[in-house]
Amino acid sequence: MTAHPITSPAKSTQISASILSADFGKLADESTAVLQAGADMLHLDVMDGHFVPNLTMGPDLCWAVRHHCPDAFLDVHLMVSDPERFVEPFAKAGADHFTFHIEAAWPTEAPIAFDPLQLVATIHEHGMTAGLAINPPTDVSPAFLDLVTAFDMILVMSVNPGYSGQSFIAEVLDKAGQIKPLLRADQRLEIDGGVNGTTAAACREAGFDILAAASAVFKSTDYRAAIEQLRGC
Ligand code: DX5
Ligand code: ZN
Repeated sequence: MTAHPITSPAKSTQISASILSADFGKLADESTAVLQAGADMLHLDVMDGHFVPNLTMGPDLCWAVRHHCPDAFLDVHLMVSDPERFVEPFAKAGADHFTFHIEAAWPTEAPIAFDPLQLVATIHEHGMTAGLAINPPTDVSPAFLDLVTAFDMILVMSVNPGYSGQSFIAEVLDKAGQIKPLLRADQRLEIDGGVNGTTAAACREAGFDILAAASAVFKSTDYRAAIEQLRGC
């Protein structure tokens, strides 16, 4: 049995290839190709046109990827205002991992929307690992740090979410110093947005052990070389 990519990874730095930059007309072939080229998992960016301005993919697309890549680990990143609604649909669609945003649970301009710890329990009941994402403008507060222990993975956004191909916000690297010391061996720290051949080394050095990348992988002409460059070997 292979090691679980989140709770017991086989390698130190893992690459989660975000299919947001794939050619959707050739999604099955491109997903298969990045996995064969060494990507450790596929990253699915789910956007609802409300939490973020863009609209992307839903459970049906996740199911299609699961169908065509039956052995892939599917790292699903929900940039949606109401992630509670989507736990069961994505579990049924074959998702392995479900990340939601702290800003959806604790909006700055509105009352608390839902209890993040209750949602973690629901995600686990549905057989998925759970991730908590934090946007660049959101501070790593003591209240945020109190939640970390309940999650399998923390995702630090290094762009404001919505689109692939944006520039890396280097200031977020400091968040690794706040979060990483709290993590157990079975918890991962992921970074997402603007990760490429130039910025990946700083991410690895800061302590991130999963690098999500869309354009740096799918817009390259050599997937294997691009993934090895991100991994640093
Ligand atoms: C951003 C998404 C990212 C995005 C990354 O809103 O969450 O996963 O696909 O794209 P790149 O790697 O091109 O910045
Ligand atoms: Zn993402």
